[in-house]
Amino acid sequence: MALSCAVLNPTHVLSDKSPCLSLKSSSTAYAHGSYRMLFQDPKYAQASILKAPAAFSSSHRGSPLKCYMRTEKGDLGGVSVGTETTEWKRAEGIVKELERQCSTPISRLREVVDAMAEELRVGLASEAKSNLLKMVISYVDTLPTGDEKGLFYALDLGGTNFRVLRVQLGGKEGRVIDKEFTEVTIPANLMVGTEKELFDYIASELAKFVTSEGKNFYLEPGRQRELGFTFSFPVHQTAIASGTLIKWSKGFSVSEMVGKDVVVALKEAMERQGLDMHVSALVNDTVGTLAGGRYRDEDVMIAVILGTGTNACYVEHADAIPKCQGLLPKSGYMVINTEWGNFWSSHLPVTEFDKALDAESINPGDHIFEKLISGMYLGEIVRRLLLKLAEDAALFGDNIPSRLREPYVLTTPNISAMHQDTSPDLKVVENTLKNVFGISHIPLRTRKLVVELCGIVAVRAARLAGAGIVGILKKLGRDVIGDTGKMRTVVAIDGGLYEHYSFFRQNMQSAVKELLGSEVSETVVLELSSDGSGIGATLLAASNSRYSKKS
Ligand code: BGC
Repeated sequence: MALSCAVLNPTHVLSDKSPCLSLKSSSTAYAHGSYRMLFQDPKYAQASILKAPAAFSSSHRGSPLKCYMRTEKGDLGGVSVGTETTEWKRAEGIVKELERQCSTPISRLREVVDAMAEELRVGLASEAKSNLLKMVISYVDTLPTGDEKGLFYALDLGGTNFRVLRVQLGGKEGRVIDKEFTEVTIPANLMVGTEKELFDYIASELAKFVTSEGKNFYLEPGRQRELGFTFSFPVHQTAIASGTLIKWSKGFSVSEMVGKDVVVALKEAMERQGLDMHVSALVNDTVGTLAGGRYRDEDVMIAVILGTGTNACYVEHADAIPKCQGLLPKSGYMVINTEWGNFWSSHLPVTEFDKALDAESINPGDHIFEKLISGMYLGEIVRRLLLKLAEDAALFGDNIPSRLREPYVLTTPNISAMHQDTSPDLKVVENTLKNVFGISHIPLRTRKLVVELCGIVAVRAARLAGAGIVGILKKLGRDVIGDTGKMRTVVAIDGGLYEHYSFFRQNMQSAVKELLGSEVSETVVLELSSDGSGIGATLLAASNSRYSKKS
């Protein structure tokens, strides 16, 4: 701890009558022996005289003291003088216990892999309500070949932003001739408002985007514009271009939408906007990512989203899907959207903090795997831990900063920045805590503790996501080298958490490697596929085009 104020003798008696300590600088923390003095507000530290109404002696060791700051202008307020031995030790104890509860040793990860593989099987067998994994039949039974041609749009709704995209596809020769996109933030009130408000808003943004279509984009005469609608929530798909919402996730809770066809909602909103466009495919973002991945690499078998939410889809043999009844895809396979966000197993390392987060969320009891892993929640878990440390171990002094009590103020990008802070005095941590919570003058060792917390939460998330992937590989029989020899399997991964949080990415990769062993892991490629899902949705709109079906 860098200290530049005058040294206080711990046995020195501070009395009201005899001001005894002059602070020479704006240093905000003072430590001597086992005592720690925290000034909540820098203005206290700049005051010239410190007085305390109590004897500041070793007899107070172990119990917090209150000291008062006084200047010629009067009392400035109280500062807390705690003991390092009690508060700091308590904080360290809380963090140690958390680390124990969140630990993901390989034995635990193997249990998670087995439980995931089993739930995948159960979900394929029937549509039972009790199934944890919905295992949605996507109606995508042919993946892009490269022959796709024409102008196609995609609309991607699934997080706090939505994207609209147009692509001119040129077949095997031309590939993606040109593409343009725009990204729009969804106002928070629309995420929890009405169907009409939300869909009118996205349809109007889409209509605006269509008017800016430039000369590189060409719609064949007599054709209607076509769209792939990426809707990244659990949907019960009933055909390639229709599906009803099962439930919301990721902070959305638009009234009266559950059970409704989301394509109908979009079509009605487009009509209200006077937008003439046909929805040719309704796809989950995982399915879009898989399609986009396949366009580039034919060994892509699995797609995973690690962003605001999390999910995975994969290519399943049609005869391994008992609930597929009657639907016999010519290709012999079907893309299955697992909706793994809703996975749960008694082997998951769930703590009291996760339980409280879940109970206070808008979808309590649902999407537990997602709440342990995805970008929407990691920051919030860390905020809850910091609050506990502030309340039980005075981590930030006597007064608990009010913003520490505000749900979701700490974001996963904040966690990622603090966790990956390489500056020697952890400046990024200092600035983040200041900007987000208004807490300043945090000693270095507290900053280190914050980094440790971010690590515990992020590493748990990354390793669990890795176990989820290995669970799918196991279901496909690709977690071992089978009779057919080494088969290359590519996992296309999209989402900001994976793309921007390199510690997360590295920990996930190493968990996959640990679980598979070095020989098998050589056959599995984890590939970043940013914006695979947008292109993928246009490709699926193309392969399901109303015109190609007629011809
Ligand atoms: C949704 C999935 C989606 C995932 C990633 C989850 O909350 O249930 O449908 O794929 O988020 O966006």
